[in-house]
Amino acid sequence: MAKNDMEDILIKTAESSKIDSVDFSNLEFGKNFSDHMFVCDFENGKWQKPRIVPFEPISLMPSSKIFHYGQSIFEGMKAYKDENEQVFLFRPIDNFNRLNISAKRLAMPELPEGYFMNGLKELLKVEKDWIPTAEGSALYIRPFMFATGQGFHASPADSYKFIIAFAPSGSYFSGKVKVLIEEKYSRSANGGVGFAKAGGNYAGQFYPTQLAKEKGYHQVIWTDDNTHEYIEEAGAMNIFARINDTLLTVPTSDRILDGITRRSILKIAEAEGINVEVRKIKVTELIEASENGSLKELFGAGTAAVVSPISGFGFKGKDYQLPELDDTYGAFFKKRITDIQTNKTEDPFGWRIKVC
Ligand code: PLP
Ligand code: COI
Repeated sequence: MAKNDMEDILIKTAESSKIDSVDFSNLEFGKNFSDHMFVCDFENGKWQKPRIVPFEPISLMPSSKIFHYGQSIFEGMKAYKDENEQVFLFRPIDNFNRLNISAKRLAMPELPEGYFMNGLKELLKVEKDWIPTAEGSALYIRPFMFATGQGFHASPADSYKFIIAFAPSGSYFSGKVKVLIEEKYSRSANGGVGFAKAGGNYAGQFYPTQLAKEKGYHQVIWTDDNTHEYIEEAGAMNIFARINDTLLTVPTSDRILDGITRRSILKIAEAEGINVEVRKIKVTELIEASENGSLKELFGAGTAAVVSPISGFGFKGKDYQLPELDDTYGAFFKKRITDIQTNKTEDPFGWRIKVC
C-alpha cells in the first residue's frame, strides 16, 4: 500500500461533549478521556475503512486472542497548543515507526503511515478543545493495537483493532522520584520484547514495582537480567546520570526501549557541547560516584514524564541521596524540550509538526 493511501475517514460525532465535566486546572495523568477516538480494523488481510467515533465501550468475543496471548502494543505521544491556538505534535513519525517495530515483533500487521498520521491529525482537529495549555500539561495521545481475532490456538490472530485515544493530562509524577535498583526481577531479556512497546512488558513490571512501593520507593530501576550489575531503564523511562559534568546514558538494545525523549536529549546535549557518554553503567559506579560526590544527578526521560528528577536510590538495603542542585541538566533538558514542543522557541532540529 502506498504511504498515504487511506480512504476518507468516516466521522460519527458524539451526541454531547463531556468537556465541561473536566477540571482542566487540575488534571491528573491519563484519567480523563476526550469525546472521540480514531478506530481502524484489520480484517481479511487488510486495513478497513477508518472511522472517528465517540469514545465508548467496544465489544469483543471472550475468545479474542488479546485476552489469551497478549498481542497488544501501544505508543505514547503528546499534542500541544500554543497561545495562538496552533496545534503541534513532537516527532510523530518516530512514534509511528516504533509502533510498527513493536507490531513486527509481536507478529501483528504493520499500519500504513497514512492511517496513523492522517487519523491522528484528523482526530486532533475534532478534539482541539481538549488540548490543555496549563504549564506542564498536554494532550496525551495513546495509539494502540490489539488482537480481536478469535481462537485458543496459540498463534497470531487474523484480525486486529487499531485505536487512537486522547487524555488531557497533567504531570506524570508530582515531584522527585525515589527509586530502588532491582536485584531480582527483570523487565526484559536478550532476544525478548523489551525494545517493543508491548502491553505485557508493563504488566510484568507491576509486581516488582508494588514490592518497591511497599518499601517506600516510587519506581524500580531495571538492571540487566543476566547479572543485575548494570542499570537499564527507570520504570517506563530511559535513565540518565550526570557524573561531574558528563551526561551518561546506556545504549539501547533489544532489552531497552529506544525512547524518543532520550534521543532528543542526546541531540540537544550534542548541540550544547555537553560531554556525553553512551555506555553501560554499573550499579557500583553509581554508588562510588555517589559516595565521592561526583554523582550530581539521576533522571528518567520519557513522553509521559518528560524529564523526571530522581531524589535518591536504594540498593542492597542502603539508600543513596542525590544532592539538591540549583542548575541541573534535568531542568535544562526539560525546559528545552517543552519549549520546542509548545512553540515557545525555535526548533532547530525540525521536531515540531504543526497540525492546524
Ligand atoms: N522506556 C520505557 C519502558 C517506556 O515505556 C518509555 C515510554 O514511552 C520510555 C522508555 C521513554 O520513551 P519515549 O521517550 O519515546 O516516550
Ligand atoms: C509514555 O511515556 O508515553 C509511556 O508510554 C509510559 C506509559 C507507561 C505511561
